[in-house]
Amino acid sequence: MITKSHSKPRLSNCQVIELEKATEDEVLKHIAEVDALLLAPPLKLTNKILDAAGCNMKTVATVSAGYNHIDIDELRKRGIKLGNTPRVLDAAVADHAVMLALAAARRLHEGRLKIENNEWKSDYQWMLGQDICNSTVGIIGLGNIGQAIAKRMKGFDIKQILYTGHREKPEGKELGAKFVSLDTLARDSDFVIISVPLTKETEGMCNEEFFSKMKKTSVFVNISRGQVVDQPALIKALKTNSIFAAGLDVMTPEPLPPDHEMLKLPNLVLTPHIGSATTNTRNEMSLLAAKNILKGLAGEEMIYPVV
Ligand code: DGY
Repeated sequence: MITKSHSKPRLSNCQVIELEKATEDEVLKHIAEVDALLLAPPLKLTNKILDAAGCNMKTVATVSAGYNHIDIDELRKRGIKLGNTPRVLDAAVADHAVMLALAAARRLHEGRLKIENNEWKSDYQWMLGQDICNSTVGIIGLGNIGQAIAKRMKGFDIKQILYTGHREKPEGKELGAKFVSLDTLARDSDFVIISVPLTKETEGMCNEEFFSKMKKTSVFVNISRGQVVDQPALIKALKTNSIFAAGLDVMTPEPLPPDHEMLKLPNLVLTPHIGSATTNTRNEMSLLAAKNILKGLAGEEMIYPVV
C-alpha cells in the first residue's frame, strides 16, 4: 500500500506500508486513505477492501499476469486503474510447462514413489513413458506464454503443434502451428497444454467430455488457472487411466490440502503454483508492478494497463 508524496511520485518519497500477511483482514486494518495498492494473487481485491480504501485509492497493480482475482468491472465503475505484469514471466512459465509435460510423460512422481516404496523392478519393460519426439502438441491459448511453450516444444523434434483459442493468429502461422477446434485438439494431441486466462468462457472448459476425447496415451498440463479444468473429471480420467498422466501447477483449491485425493495419484505431477517463481522473474515482476504504481500515481499510462 502506498501513500503518495506531493512531488512526482518515486518509491523513495512515498510512504510504503508493507504487510506481513497478505490477508483481507490485514489489508483492511491498513487500507484507509492509501493512494495505491500493490497486491498479488491469491489475495482477492474485494469490494470490502475497495470500500475501506475510500476515494483516494485510484491505482492498483498486481504482481501477476493473471487478474482473475480482481473484479475489473468494479474497478472501472470506481475509476481505479489497474496494471499487471505480463511478458516478463513468459519464459519461466513456459519452462515450467515443458518440465511438467516431460515429468508427467516420463512418470517422474511415480518413479520416485517406486524407489521410496522399495518397488524398483529391474525389468526393461517397466515404467515405460511417452515420447515427446514425433508427438502432436496441442496448446489451448496461443498468447505470449502459449507461444513461448510452442517455441520450446519445437526443440524436441515434435511432429506438429495444434492450437485453439478465439481466433487464428498470425503468430500461429509463424510457429508453423495449426489452428483447430477444441474437439480436434483434444482428439489429436499427445500433449495438451492449457495456457488460457481464466474467464467466464474458459471456466470448466476441460470437462468430462473433453477428457473422454483425449487419447489413452496423452498427457495433460495446466499452468494457467485451476478453474479452467473440471477437476473431478480430470481425477476420474487419471484414476481410470483414460489419459496417461497430468502435470499441474494450478489446481483448486490453492493451497491444496495435504490430504487431497490428487496427492494419491501416481500419474499426476503437482507443483504449488510456482510457474513464474524464479528469482529473476519475480524480481522483474515486482519491479514492473512498482513502475505501474508510480505511473498510476503520476497520472500517466501504466506500462501494462488492464483498466
Ligand atoms: C500469474 O502471473 O498470473 C501467475 O500465475 C502467478 O499468479
